[in-house]
Amino acid sequence: MAREISLFEAIRTQRAIRRFRADPVSDEAITRVLEAAIRAPSPGNRQSWYFLVVRDPETKRRIGEYYWQATLEAQREPGYAQIASSPVYRSADDLARRIGEVPVMVLACVEVRGGAAGPPGRGPITLGAAIYPAVQNLMLAARGLGLGTCLTTRHRRFEREVKELLGIPDHVETAALIPLGYPAEGEHFGGSRRRPTTEVAFYERWGRKKASA
Ligand SMILES: Cc1cc2nc3c(=O)[nH]c(=O)nc-3n(C[C@H](O)[C@H](O)[C@H](O)COP(=O)(O)O)c2cc1C
Repeated sequence: MAREISLFEAIRTQRAIRRFRADPVSDEAITRVLEAAIRAPSPGNRQSWYFLVVRDPETKRRIGEYYWQATLEAQREPGYAQIASSPVYRSADDLARRIGEVPVMVLACVEVRGGAAGPPGRGPITLGAAIYPAVQNLMLAARGLGLGTCLTTRHRRFEREVKELLGIPDHVETAALIPLGYPAEGEHFGGSRRRPTTEVAFYERWGRKKASA
């Protein structure tokens, strides 16, 4: 069992992990990360989220095939060549080749019903806001247990096929496919590169930086 880490250490060191050891992930660990996911905020506290945990090798393989087909499609699109050689995309394409073999997949899903049953607001930003806070909680809790994750969305090019394979009803969409497992040798938590708050945070008015102390 990994040592307990503080909330702030988990936040600081959580990052995209795309290579995993074959070691199994216990049901207890899965339950703990799901319990963290459902603590997230949601519009009107409607909690219109579902989490589909996939361990079955054949099901993962078939989802992985769709994911790889989606990647091949993306690679054929104009503009992909310019980004394909960046470390992030190389790593993402590498995951795409092997995602069907990860220890666990979690599909984070959200209801798309309108009216009182669905998220309020206008458009996709609020629909995303109804599920991604829970995804972030899930990934942070996983980090707390020493488990790596990566928020991925490429499978959505085959949303209909993936939903059919898993029996997901029409009024539910998949928002993220999250591989989950213990990081492989060479993978590491921490060290992510981020724009500093001095660049992205403003005070009182757009563009106004914090007065130096
Ligand atoms: C909405 C969203 C979609 C993403 N889709 C993918 C994806 O399809 N495949 C992938 O490998 N990573 C995906 N990522 C992960 C990002 O590439 C990753 O969070 C970013 O590069 C930062 O990585 P780091 O935390 O290791 O620095 C996605 C992240 C977000 C927030």
